[in-house]
Amino acid sequence: MTFSPLPQSVNLPQAVNTPLTRAALFLVATIREGDSSRAPVRSLCGDLSSLVRAVGFRAVEPGLSCILGIGSDAWARLFGTPRPAHLHPFREIQASGRHAVATPGDLLFHIRAQHFDLCYELATQITSRLGKAISVVDEVHGFRYFDARDLLGFVDGTENPTGQAATDAVLIGNEDPPFAGGSYVVVQKYLHDLTAWNALSTEKQEQIIGRAKLSDIETADEKKAIYAHNVLTKIVEDGQEVKIIRDNMPFGSAGGESGTYFIGYSRNPGTIEQMIENMFVGKPPGNYDRLLDFSRAVTGGLFFVPSATFLDGVTADPS
Ligand code: HEM
Repeated sequence: MTFSPLPQSVNLPQAVNTPLTRAALFLVATIREGDSSRAPVRSLCGDLSSLVRAVGFRAVEPGLSCILGIGSDAWARLFGTPRPAHLHPFREIQASGRHAVATPGDLLFHIRAQHFDLCYELATQITSRLGKAISVVDEVHGFRYFDARDLLGFVDGTENPTGQAATDAVLIGNEDPPFAGGSYVVVQKYLHDLTAWNALSTEKQEQIIGRAKLSDIETADEKKAIYAHNVLTKIVEDGQEVKIIRDNMPFGSAGGESGTYFIGYSRNPGTIEQMIENMFVGKPPGNYDRLLDFSRAVTGGLFFVPSATFLDGVTADPS
């Protein structure tokens, strides 16, 4: 059998659209001030795919992946122009005591594997290689909780698009030609008040989420509360539902804080920003997401995810 080569204009994406894994490590870092930080970060960009291959190949089970996202200021420092059309800092929202905070972050590493040892190994290879060029500002170790449940007890991820619909939802096409094959990612770390949540009846919790807790069946539209999470996060444009891909992960410690690490990919970050606005401000204003009575966002960041082809072509020295 013969294979014809892909046309040179095709940009291969990073592993945005991969099946959910049992473990994940979310690493957010800032790049240290000064020109000397630029070369090590650029050099890591160019070598990231081979680093992932080297670590991943040591495991019996495949499945290690790493997505690198670049923040708005960092893009200017690392790559200058052209810029991805919709790259900007995460927009904070304050509404009646609900706060979607914006927190520092130049680089996001979303590392996924079936086993956490692989995530850990890759993360330490990355941080030791970058050394003093970066400061890690947030690191979350996520685990898949039973049948893909969040710590609130609900299955999380069911309505993710699959196949071509997933590709269409997350990968930039002709709307921004220099960045075709790229994507945008938004992250927010939520801490839960599990004592208060668990004091609610199951029926009340189901109203808040819009699905049945045990069976994960979606509540019929006419029976959903107007503030249900899956009502407020449903975005319809020109009669079409606009989907995103989420790979939220629970995290936590028995004696300390626990919550959900929200991560959403989209070909246009405006979709995710609209969802966050609907949740925090409410749609109409005041009709907010009651999850926020029990979950508090303590980080918020927006990053551009260049194509793998773009990253592979980055060298330490831009000239
Ligand atoms: C405390 C944080 C969050 C928790 C615990 C949570 C949990 C859930 C659960 C249990 C579902 C239903 C099952 C599913 O389809 O996945 C869901 C759906 C969804 N969530 Fe979240 N979520 C959180 C934050 C967010 C945020 C910040 C966004 C958007 C910015 C978001 C967007 C969505 C979307 C788009 C759906 C699918 C709605 C549908 O099409 O039915 N979620 N979430």
